[in-house]
Amino acid sequence: MPVIPEIDSFTDDLIAIRRDFHEHPELGMEEVRTSGIVASLLKQWGIEVHTGIGKTGVVGVLNGNGPGRTIGLRADMDALPIEEKTNLPFASKTPGVMHACGHDAHTTMLLGAARYLASSKNFNGKAVFIFQPAEEGLGGARAMLADALFDKFPCDEIYGMHNKPNGQPGKVGVRPGQAMAGADFFDIRIKASGSHAARPQESIDPIVIGTNLVQQLQTIVSRNVSPTEPIVLSITQIHAGAAYNVIPSDCTISGTMRFFDTDVANIVRQRIRDLCKGIATGYGADIEFDNQEIFSVLVNDESLSQVLVEIAADVVGKEQADLLEELSTGSEDFADMLQVIPGAYCTVGHEGTLPLHNDGFFLDESILPVGASIYARLIEQRTSV
Ligand code: NI
Repeated sequence: MPVIPEIDSFTDDLIAIRRDFHEHPELGMEEVRTSGIVASLLKQWGIEVHTGIGKTGVVGVLNGNGPGRTIGLRADMDALPIEEKTNLPFASKTPGVMHACGHDAHTTMLLGAARYLASSKNFNGKAVFIFQPAEEGLGGARAMLADALFDKFPCDEIYGMHNKPNGQPGKVGVRPGQAMAGADFFDIRIKASGSHAARPQESIDPIVIGTNLVQQLQTIVSRNVSPTEPIVLSITQIHAGAAYNVIPSDCTISGTMRFFDTDVANIVRQRIRDLCKGIATGYGADIEFDNQEIFSVLVNDESLSQVLVEIAADVVGKEQADLLEELSTGSEDFADMLQVIPGAYCTVGHEGTLPLHNDGFFLDESILPVGASIYARLIEQRTSV
């Protein structure tokens, strides 16, 4: 069974909504325009709307025809601090901000499901549409949970999805159990002592200390963690100095760790601390390690993973939906919601091939009615089991 015909019939509207979001991207916790449009469309379709949940988050509630279960569906709304280089006619009009992860499409797909369900009402129980802010490492899911999301809107199951630019349109993948990595973001601040570059003996050089520390940090994964354990430690920023002839006093190093096992993550955190301390002592500098635990490991419920694949197969075909999604070292804060309510998260493939977060990222819009149809079928089928 393909895309739901009613949803297919308003695909042009979905494309227009998505292009509008794409043209006006907003960073995490600043999704004022986006969430305003979401709220007004939901209202227009007769759906009960709750705003300001997790700052800019929106929740829509739609009752079916009779008693049944409550199913939550979640989409993210935020864009990234990237300068768009696509040359699309609807490219970002906001300098330095771009929907390079396709959250504009995720929001649109969930709106598509809501519009169809509000008019067809072909279900019992209740649908909860969760439009989440700030997925890109800025704590949107945790903010909604802190605002008592699931106390106000208790759900029996929750589902989410992410577009995947794998050149395989309509390919749906789910990985039961551990599916996506937990992630820390960290900053290491080296406070040393600057001097004239011509008189290095008068300095404690933070650049020498910092580059040495980066090399040492790269031994943690290779020497302190079992080779069978998937873990990533990447240094992504080094900031120091502003002149040719000055040894600066400070150097800041930032990066991220990705992990699937909390005990292993704790070993890495401790080794970073130990190396900072040892190198600080060795060079006579001060080194601060400031770690933030940003993403939890995303764990899909085993049986609901199967449910999600079967329902997606109704839309994309049996041969196009499977449980073979590869383990991802990427992270996703839907993980925090899955720690509270059982559910599953899938990827939906499309024709694009440039990676997510690339400044030329291209989203194939044929994914819009596909995602909307999968969301809608989840409500129709899971509210009455
Ligand atoms: Ni994303």
